[in-house]
Amino acid sequence: MCGIVGYIGEEQAAPILLDGLSKLEYRGYDSAGIAVYNGTEIQMIKSMGRLKVLSELTHDGAKLPGTAGIGHTRWATHGAPSDVNAHPHFNKTGSIVVVHNGIIENYLKLRQKLIRRGYEFVSETDTEVVAHLLDYYYQGNPLEAIAKLMHRLEGSYAFGIIFQDHPGEIYAVRKDSPLIVGASSRGNLIASDVPAILKYTRSVYFIENEEIVRLSKESMTFYNIDEEEIEKQPVTIDWDINAAEKGGYEHFMLKEMYEQPKAVRDTFSPRIKDGDIVIEEMGLSDEDIKAVKKIYIVACGSAYHTGMTCKYVFEGLARIPVEVDLASEFRYRNPILEPGTLVIVVTQSGETADSLAALREAKKRDVPVLGIVNVVGSSIAREADHVMYTWAGPEIAVATTKAYSTQLIAQYLLAMKFARVRGEMPDEMFASMLEDMERLPEQIEMLLSNKEKIQRFANRYVAARDVFFIGRGIDYAISMEGSLKLKEISYIHSEAYAAGELKHGTISLIEEGTLVNAVVTQEELFKKTISNMVEVKSRGACVMAVTQVGNTEVEKAADYVIYIPKTNRYFTNSLAIIPLQLFAYYVSIGKGCDVDKPRNLAKSVTVE
Ligand code: M6R
Repeated sequence: MCGIVGYIGEEQAAPILLDGLSKLEYRGYDSAGIAVYNGTEIQMIKSMGRLKVLSELTHDGAKLPGTAGIGHTRWATHGAPSDVNAHPHFNKTGSIVVVHNGIIENYLKLRQKLIRRGYEFVSETDTEVVAHLLDYYYQGNPLEAIAKLMHRLEGSYAFGIIFQDHPGEIYAVRKDSPLIVGASSRGNLIASDVPAILKYTRSVYFIENEEIVRLSKESMTFYNIDEEEIEKQPVTIDWDINAAEKGGYEHFMLKEMYEQPKAVRDTFSPRIKDGDIVIEEMGLSDEDIKAVKKIYIVACGSAYHTGMTCKYVFEGLARIPVEVDLASEFRYRNPILEPGTLVIVVTQSGETADSLAALREAKKRDVPVLGIVNVVGSSIAREADHVMYTWAGPEIAVATTKAYSTQLIAQYLLAMKFARVRGEMPDEMFASMLEDMERLPEQIEMLLSNKEKIQRFANRYVAARDVFFIGRGIDYAISMEGSLKLKEISYIHSEAYAAGELKHGTISLIEEGTLVNAVVTQEELFKKTISNMVEVKSRGACVMAVTQVGNTEVEKAADYVIYIPKTNRYFTNSLAIIPLQLFAYYVSIGKGCDVDKPRNLAKSVTVE
């Protein structure tokens, strides 16, 4: 949940570290720090607060001269955000320095042992244990000390490490937290994620679990935990570098919302070939597809909400029973995974700790796992038996928009493919769904162009205390995402309810002026949801409705109606979510919140 970077080369390290951290701030932003080796000693500056505080303190890096260094941006787990808990962390003499992403689960036990051996701790972090344990094992050979350290640690980690008496080298290692290495003509780099090094190189090595890398300015050597040298091949990253910049938009979230038409098109168009759906990289044969008896969709947060929607799509189209699980529940609930089960893990980052653990749990039980993943080469993409990529490009804003939209598309394609292979979908229906899918990008564009109207409406609710979202079927799943978007970036309490459940308790929360956002896109449920809108309205609620063009009946029960264009009933989420994203965005702006980096959150939740 933190971001780490490291650089060794010809150039001054500090500005490169600060620049890399600025691309990783989405991973954590409560404190930051860098340590640079100046040829005689390791100097460090770290501070609570955003990266700009560190940039000011270091005079944009000028205060820390040297050509090798490591840096960190933190999302606090052990110990509150503070200067002292910020990374990097030193050993007692300041000759070994460490940055860490992950959680050391046995740190308390190790800490007690080290205290008994005379080590003193200055921070409350689990990471400081690592600096002292390295000190304890270090006898002049960094590789040996790191391997011993790895044998003692439980939990997840990616480390960047510098040893003062090994000038010209930095070390990195990982287990269950992401880490990449980049080779450039200007030096070598480590980072938690690709955007941090894209400016310098597109040639990237993915470090696997329990691998160690030693970097010098002109070489990199990889080792396994037994200190044996191993060979690794680089992967070329072909992302557009501008995709990781704001490009004139006020916020990444706004930019990413505007990128949705393209992201959606990029995700479906290469897979529609000669009137059929071909998902080349996935490697599931027609026989495999026919053999599936049950699907589990497992994910967290918004990705889970796409699964909630696509349960209806898979069941409706392919007639396969689907269970949708939160990854944090699935991993501990001992699910019954019988032969014929397919587990689909949906994730933008491919690094979410609970989703990764759920994947491993399924694999342990010999059930095939298909990862629907955005980040190429991420842990889930590598560990899943089958992968289908979403082509959203880098998503920086903590609140997901374009990745969410592409996750829906990937699952629609999959459900249609399954339906077709299993003989559940007539040709005309298939062709008409493909046509509807191809229209989605321009329909999304049209909805985005209505942003001023939604902004005006949103401005009326910046002071709201509670907002409810209601819907039935797919509309309930859309409501869940609309509600999460609002609460995560505006800090307004919000809940989504299946509209039919209101009268079983929730309706007592409705007061004069409470905002209820009703999602009404499923024709067979129009009347039912409209009755629920009438119920809340007659108790004083102000009702905003999102519905399909032509469903004017909604106006009788709503104070404000947003119409979405007609599309296939299974695709309505892709359109109805757009005004809800805009609504959340403008409420957040109206309240003066930090839209891209909401409090207490980080983009990739790589810790449990
Ligand atoms: O990277 P993932 O898709 O696995 O992340 C899952 C959730 O953490 C993520 O969707 C989260 O809920 C977003 N902040 C919501 O906007």
